[in-house]
Amino acid sequence: MRLNKYIAHSGVVSRRKADELIAQGRVKVNGAVAPVGWDVKEGDVVEVSGRVIKPEKKTVYYMLNKPVGYITTVNDDRGRETVLDLMPDVKERIYPVGRLDYNTSGLLILTNDGDLANRLMHPSGEVKKTYLAEVKGLMHLSDAEKLRKGVDIGDRRPTAPAEVEIIKQSESTSIVEIRIGEGRNRQVRRMFSAVGHEVIKLRRTAYGNLKLGHLKPGQYKKLSKNEIEYLKSL
Ligand code: URA
Repeated sequence: MRLNKYIAHSGVVSRRKADELIAQGRVKVNGAVAPVGWDVKEGDVVEVSGRVIKPEKKTVYYMLNKPVGYITTVNDDRGRETVLDLMPDVKERIYPVGRLDYNTSGLLILTNDGDLANRLMHPSGEVKKTYLAEVKGLMHLSDAEKLRKGVDIGDRRPTAPAEVEIIKQSESTSIVEIRIGEGRNRQVRRMFSAVGHEVIKLRRTAYGNLKLGHLKPGQYKKLSKNEIEYLKSL
């Protein structure tokens, strides 16, 4: 197996990142720095930055309904619970595709397929994510229109066009569905803040065409063959 594929299958990094590590001389096979394009044979010992790695036998794909109060990184230096604490039965070294804030709930994909994860997280924004937001105050049609066109959230460029539907309006709070392709840090919260509405609750309800369905907060399921094929087709 090609060295870059072997490294990607170990769940450490994507194949492209593996190529960079190999080019930087940080990968050794049987104790010697390995050249790009090396073929790994049965019994070879591969080290990345001094650590021996082994490819995962099989790739696995899960959907979790993340509850509020969990972080989406694999380790937390402040000792907070991570989404992996919710999935003790999963033996493979999976990690989340993208992030949800500590205070955000909803649909999270987790896998040990480094190549797919990296493609899905690409900033080209191909994958549309749908969120249901409860926000403070009366959401006006003009606010929704601004979000649709793109707003300044203090980054170098405004946000890309979004799909926005007001589900419920009242003087105190409103419920809004928003669908975006980008995945900037705290993007949805910052978008609503840019039009004067603080987000009280945020839940991701769909990732592309994949929906949470009946999964309750804290529950997870293996993705079906069709769902995996769909993600690979994106
Ligand atoms: N946008 C946010 O503001 N937070 C999330 O967790 C996801 C999208």
